[in-house]
Amino acid sequence: MKVLTRPTLAAACALLIAGLAHADDKAANPNVDEAKGLIKQFADQLQSELKTSINNGGPIKAIEVCQKRAPAIAAGLSRSSGWEVGRTSLKPRNAKLGAPDDWERGVLESFETRKASGESVETMAHAEVVETDQGQRFRFMKAVPTQEVCLACHGTEISEPVAAALDERYPQDQARGFALGDIRGAFSLSKPL
Ligand code: HEC
Repeated sequence: MKVLTRPTLAAACALLIAGLAHADDKAANPNVDEAKGLIKQFADQLQSELKTSINNGGPIKAIEVCQKRAPAIAAGLSRSSGWEVGRTSLKPRNAKLGAPDDWERGVLESFETRKASGESVETMAHAEVVETDQGQRFRFMKAVPTQEVCLACHGTEISEPVAAALDERYPQDQARGFALGDIRGAFSLSKPL
């Protein structure tokens, strides 16, 4: 049996305490809570509008919801909260709104690595204070898992009329071929500190 020496024990304790302090920090960070609250509002509103329009008008009608309402909901939340609220992806459909900047690309890539090592996509997120030309910003990203309802427009077997409607609106579309549970992209929020 290996006997723990005093310095090893002290180091282990320091690590444990650092770990606990870190966990506490995370739980107590009001910026993270605020960002999560905004993401919940964004996701709830979009998904309820999406479900209603798929049920009432089918997926082609619902494409319009994604095209018009998603940016509008994001802009509304940005105006009312002081945060910049958006969505991004390594394979964006709308490259103008959804293409990641360098920081977002790095985080999205780290999400893929974290998923590959077994972490749940449902709760995956990353927060960081980033230096920018305009000063410090608090940035937060939360992974968006691909659910059943998403497959009609982001999956591997997209129906012919839906594919045609997407081709027409998004000739550079990269957001197809996703499977259930894949990381479709992420919510990305930031605000000045
Ligand atoms: C009815 C078709 C449709 C369905 C269903 C759908 N989407 Fe989309 N999705 C779109 C369209 C269209 C866009 C582009 C929106 C735009 O122009 O900003 C988009 C964009 C996105 C984006 C922004 C990044 C990008 O690729 O441009 C994310 C993230 C996203 N969808 C996730 C999802 C998730 C998660 C679901 C399921 C909960 C889902 N979508 C269901 C059509 C759909």
